Amino acid sequence: MDFTLNEEMEMIRDSAREYAERVLKPHAAAIDAAEEFPTEAVKEAAEAGFLGLTVPEEYGGAGLGNMHSAILLEEVNRWDPSVGVTISVHMSLACSCINKWGTEEVKEKYLPKLATGELIGAYCLTEPGAGSDAGSMKARAVKVDGGWKITGTKSWITTGPEAGLYVVYAVTDPDGRRGGNIGAFLIERSMEGVMVGKKEEKLGLRGSSTTEMIFEDVFVPEENLMGDGVNGFKIALDTLDGGRIGIAAQALGIHRACLEESVKYSKEREQFGKPIGAFQGVAWKLADMATSLEANRMLVHKAAWLRDRGQPCTKECSMAKLAASRGCNVAAQDAVQIHGGAGYTKEFPVERHYRDARITEIYEGATDIQRLVISRHL
Ligand code: CAA
Repeated sequence: MDFTLNEEMEMIRDSAREYAERVLKPHAAAIDAAEEFPTEAVKEAAEAGFLGLTVPEEYGGAGLGNMHSAILLEEVNRWDPSVGVTISVHMSLACSCINKWGTEEVKEKYLPKLATGELIGAYCLTEPGAGSDAGSMKARAVKVDGGWKITGTKSWITTGPEAGLYVVYAVTDPDGRRGGNIGAFLIERSMEGVMVGKKEEKLGLRGSSTTEMIFEDVFVPEENLMGDGVNGFKIALDTLDGGRIGIAAQALGIHRACLEESVKYSKEREQFGKPIGAFQGVAWKLADMATSLEANRMLVHKAAWLRDRGQPCTKECSMAKLAASRGCNVAAQDAVQIHGGAGYTKEFPVERHYRDARITEIYEGATDIQRLVISRHL
């Protein structure tokens, strides 16, 4: 057993922290207020090599794994979860999926561009009528000469308008067995029939783009099919195991922000003649917040460690996401409470953390779905 980060992990943590404090910290509040996509911050993340972190070296990436990306994502999300989710979806739902399931041809074609950020990746699974029940999707892929024609509407697509490449799931065999009748495809933004739909106005993560994506009779060449054309749902769920580590790491970052801001405020703010942190009611909240952060980080790192070794980890990924997302919401609630009226205003960052925390219990499998997955393994 060794709980220390190795030299490479420490290097990732330090460079991600330096980037987050220099690039994200000064602008996170303004980006949230303006609901503006953080183009410059994503560009700098690409220049720092973060977007290619999990892409193998032969395709121009750093060839690192889930443990490294979890460490990076905690740091980025400490200051700006809008940038955090953009990087997480790109790395864990697009790059990793293509690397594991794509044909050699598409790996050579897309991974080098994804590694440098020339292409941003997005993940199109959810539909207006298929959220938690992702297997009930209606998007359709019809076999044609040399490839497939895809038609359907996907919703809640992170980085929909900015992405250049989409992992898209569609039913290939409407008469086939549920869950065994779906294909996983790669669709380029520039392909005919790809349209950006409604933009969502969100409670938090207001800098990240979330839109509908509409695919109308889009021709996709055969090599852009990942898997065998009917195992797409398994590809989707396997990919989401990794994605859930990313969102759990995001929750750690928001949780840490809540803790650090609350410790600072409770040392500065005085009532009844002493700093409020000297009162047990506040001190115990801080102690609980710090303890759950440590515990949840262990779950996240264990899930990442298992996945990096190719070991079964579906249950552990769901446990990490369940605990870290719940923990960060409890921390955000307590952080606002410790700040009192000040925490309810935009003058203090915990107001934003409180709003940002909420989504971690919803996307990439709601808390209820994580419980369903875990309980099926018991
Ligand atoms: N890895 C590989 N295969 C898996 C798997 C995994 N983790 N989990 C299940 N499977 C296999 C099953 O063994 C089964 O195979 P067989 O058909 O051969 O038996 C098949 O996949 C179907 O599995 P289930 O029977 O368990 O499927 P289900 O319909 O009961 O659904 C579910 C399972 C867990 C509820 C799933 O639908 C789910 O995770 N729902 C939540 C959807 C979700 O997370 N959406 C997130 C959208 S992406 C997003 O949010 C990104 C963003 O932009 C931020």
